[in-house]
Amino acid sequence: MELRIATIADADAIVAFDHVAASDRARVQFIHEQIKSSACHVAVIDATVVGYAVLNYKFYDNGWIEMLYVHPQFRRQGVGSELIRHLVNECRTPKLFTSTNQSNSPMQRLLATLEFKRSGFIENLDEGDPELVYFKRIRDHAA
Ligand SMILES: CC(C)(COP(=O)(O)OP(=O)(O)OC[C@H]1O[C@@H](n2cnc3c(N)ncnc32)[C@H](O)[C@@H]1OP(=O)(O)O)[C@@H](O)C(=O)NCCC(=O)NCCS
Repeated sequence: MELRIATIADADAIVAFDHVAASDRARVQFIHEQIKSSACHVAVIDATVVGYAVLNYKFYDNGWIEMLYVHPQFRRQGVGSELIRHLVNECRTPKLFTSTNQSNSPMQRLLATLEFKRSGFIENLDEGDPELVYFKRIRDHAA
């Protein structure tokens, strides 16, 4: 599995497997913007883009995994875990945060296996489905 920064040539492949992008122009725009700002990383197997993840620093200036999405046909094969491990290595700040809905148990289990810790929750984003915040301390000082 190759892990690398996405280029604009990857955008169509990502949009094709991200089911939200199929019906939401804003998601397509988000993917393009994140690629342009070099925040989007992809996992590639045999020249096929099988997952993407977005790392930026918008969460109170800390590393922030804003998105993780694995091609449905390539789930439960370690792709999501490898993408997160890759972002842990890439992250420039001592602390790395992410969040997921309370209803998203696959993501919660994945984060637990990678030793992310719970760090509170945010209500009133998705109705009746709080956003659980997770964090991992990567190092003691900024890189
Ligand atoms: C959540 C998601 C990224 C997981 O990606 P993945 O490549 O399937 O994850 P991995 O194969 O690395 O799984 C690692 C571990 O996480 C847990 N896990 C992942 N998916 C799971 C599921 N559907 N049910 C239960 N546990 C799950 C398991 O412990 C798994 O280890 P195992 O397969 O050895 O049991 C993927 O399901 C996805 O893209 N979902 C849609 C988008 C999304 O919800 N993104 C996260 C919120 S932003």
